[in-house]
Amino acid sequence: MNGYGCLAAYYDRLMTDFDYEGYLSLLDREIEGHEGVDLCCGSGRITTALARRGKKVIGADMSAEMLGEAVKNARAAGVNPLFVQADATTFRPQHSVDFATCVCDGLNYIKPKNLAVFFENAACFLKKGAKFVFDVSSEYKLKKIIGSNVFFEDYDDLTYLWTNTPFAGGVKMELTFFIRGDDGKYTKQTEEHTQYAHKQSAIEEAMTGKFSYKAYDFSTMGVVGSKTTRILWVCERL
Ligand SMILES: C[S@@+](CC[C@H](N)C(=O)[O-])C[C@H]1O[C@@H](n2cnc3c(N)ncnc32)[C@H](O)[C@@H]1O
Repeated sequence: MNGYGCLAAYYDRLMTDFDYEGYLSLLDREIEGHEGVDLCCGSGRITTALARRGKKVIGADMSAEMLGEAVKNARAAGVNPLFVQADATTFRPQHSVDFATCVCDGLNYIKPKNLAVFFENAACFLKKGAKFVFDVSSEYKLKKIIGSNVFFEDYDDLTYLWTNTPFAGGVKMELTFFIRGDDGKYTKQTEEHTQYAHKQSAIEEAMTGKFSYKAYDFSTMGVVGSKTTRILWVCERL
């Protein structure tokens, strides 16, 4: 199965090390205006939090399973943002909006040859002066930390293995889930993901002429260094 099928049901549980609160504080400081788009919204953590702040936000994602989780999470939080199944390189809201986000690796799923199209598309639906905030797992993280390592989690109802195979432009990831049924028997499911290790320069080149930008090391909000694991950009539509 290709990415975010089986993972969707366990995604929020497995994402304990991502600083959503820190991200939201940054968004609170940076984004202005009422209407926005959360690209590659996944289970909708950011979409829902922005909706709870009174924003009119659309969450767009390719995975029907992740969108299913997003709808459940939003309803549980008492909000009802619009979720749309769409490719982030082509999705456009009906009219121009005030901000966009693409949080936690969404851009690592975009093929290098599609980076320019991704930014051209976002530029088309963002108003002049609109902020676009997004991040990537850095080349350093994908090649040196994830590399060819295997990670695992073991819960009562789930045992999860994450096996990585690097290639020149990124990492192929195989996720294996052993899911415990009510009868105590385990079912095995696998899915594959490909994350691309974009160079900072490639991303900035793809934005040039459409956005002004500033890049940060997400963990320090200081300058990006050779061991930065997550690079965050705060951009403004020109
Ligand atoms: C690591 S998850 C991040 C989800 C969410 N933004 C978060 O912060 O938790 C990456 C998401 O990108 C979505 N995705 C990958 N490629 C996409 C594309 N081309 N268009 C839209 N969504 C995509 C996946 O389905 C997945 O939900």
